[in-house]
Amino acid sequence: MIDKNNCPKTKHYQMLPKISFQETSEFNNLTREAEAVKGIHLRELFKTDHDRFTQFSIETGGLLFDYSKQRVRKESMKMLVQMARECGLEKAISSLFSGEKINETENRAVLHTALRNRSGNPVIESGVDVMPEVEAVKSQMKHFSENVISGNWKGFSGKTITDIVNIGIGGSDLGPYMVTESLKPFSNHLKMHFVSNVDGAQISEVLKGLNPETTLFLIVSKTFTTQETMANAQTARKWCAEKMGSEDAVANHFVAVSTQPDLVTEFGIMPENMFVFWDWVGGRYSLWSAVGLSICLAVGYSNFEELLQGGYEMDQHFKSADFHENIPVVMALLGIWNCNFLGATSLAILPYDQNLHRFPAYLQQADMESNGKSVDRNGNPVSYSTGPVVWGEPGTNGQHAFYQLIHQGTSMIPCDFIASVKSQCGLRKHHELLLANCFAQSLALMEGKTAEEAREELSKTKKTPEEIEALVPYKTFKGNVPSSTLVFNELNPRNLGFLIACYEHKIFVQGILWNLFSFDQWGVELGKQLAQNILPALQAETSLNEMDNSTAGILKFYRKWI
Ligand code: F6P
Repeated sequence: MIDKNNCPKTKHYQMLPKISFQETSEFNNLTREAEAVKGIHLRELFKTDHDRFTQFSIETGGLLFDYSKQRVRKESMKMLVQMARECGLEKAISSLFSGEKINETENRAVLHTALRNRSGNPVIESGVDVMPEVEAVKSQMKHFSENVISGNWKGFSGKTITDIVNIGIGGSDLGPYMVTESLKPFSNHLKMHFVSNVDGAQISEVLKGLNPETTLFLIVSKTFTTQETMANAQTARKWCAEKMGSEDAVANHFVAVSTQPDLVTEFGIMPENMFVFWDWVGGRYSLWSAVGLSICLAVGYSNFEELLQGGYEMDQHFKSADFHENIPVVMALLGIWNCNFLGATSLAILPYDQNLHRFPAYLQQADMESNGKSVDRNGNPVSYSTGPVVWGEPGTNGQHAFYQLIHQGTSMIPCDFIASVKSQCGLRKHHELLLANCFAQSLALMEGKTAEEAREELSKTKKTPEEIEALVPYKTFKGNVPSSTLVFNELNPRNLGFLIACYEHKIFVQGILWNLFSFDQWGVELGKQLAQNILPALQAETSLNEMDNSTAGILKFYRKWI
């Protein structure tokens, strides 16, 4: 329970209180509410409230968010919202948008929202309006992408560009790759390739099919030191110079996106072929920045602007809608409800849209790198679960793979279904089948099938009563699996921007309620450091005596076979 003198239930805080949901006065009420809700099946909730959909859905900006199949009652939502207020969510939102250094462990502001700011108002970071620089880079992106698409940009031998290779990893890959795949129906003649893995299998496979004379490489790295990206960039550069017979070819075939102009210059990329962004843009929130250059090239600059527009509109919704009507806030609260009160440990992202096939992977980084943490904002270990495991695959493929476990396994796995009313490909019959499956799955998860219903169904077959009884336990579905359904009219750039920003803000809200610093990622460092120590042992017969027994054993096996 919090000390109410320290954290009053007022709407506006001067300082952001660093308390978790567990320290709010509403926490105990919610614990009791969860006990009550655990005893009620979703079927029951629908039976007793015929208007559940109206009460538990939000429609805004062309997006329908139906959460009536979540295991909540009106009272639950009221308490959750109250809990969010006690954690200072209003103040947190205003701190985010106003450029306060809320990424405290890196002493940085978090201003990816400035990249899609269409208000015409300044956004101040460290006393300076960042908007003129943001606009300048956008106009550089526009000019460059139009030049390449129109064929004005020529390769070293005078040919126009046909293929783009984006070399980056993490946020410098997942976001732009996910968006370009999602917006395939809007793409032009340029063929896009994404190389991220340090495993040479990926770049060699990509290079195999390319003509160096017509290929343009985008080297995308916030730090310009990431081992994987630098290794791939060097390989691509060597390939280009060798095939073209001149180091000078690099100027026509390489551009860079980074916050580190000096390192880009050192690599040999001309200043005019460099697109900058800033340390207040987190890697996993960077697709709105110059990191989105591949998006501009793939679908044209005006569609990139539409994407930004969608993100901006979601920002406005997030900033202004009452928490009960605020999609990212409600999504975040439901996530906390499922994880911290009902015991879920993962979240399945299930887009019924093949073009969104990288969306779950993109969200894995956005969510798990942000909230996969166990130390709170006061430096203390947390005593509750934080970020769930985020995973998923597009429907209907997933149905024939892992849905069995969601329907009849032992864990409760909340699901987000994502779909569009209109098909992107025009095959209407396919789309009807797709949507029928999507809507049927959330229904099946919600209702399940009772033993009685299974028995009744089996009685219509030729099975004996004994055979029927033997099968009933296997044919029964417990149901009561919570899910939300997000539906757009269609998947276009604006709607995609709206959706991505929605999940970004959801993650932010959860970080506040879990009392975490969501914008650093120290957890990725240790493995990187150790890889540096192990590399020499792969390159030479160094002593393994200092190594742990397991790693030394693996390395001995490596040396035996290399
Ligand atoms: O290792 C994690 C990470 O730092 C991510 O946060 C980031 O998106 C990725 O690596 C790539 O970093 P960079 O853009 O600096 O190459």
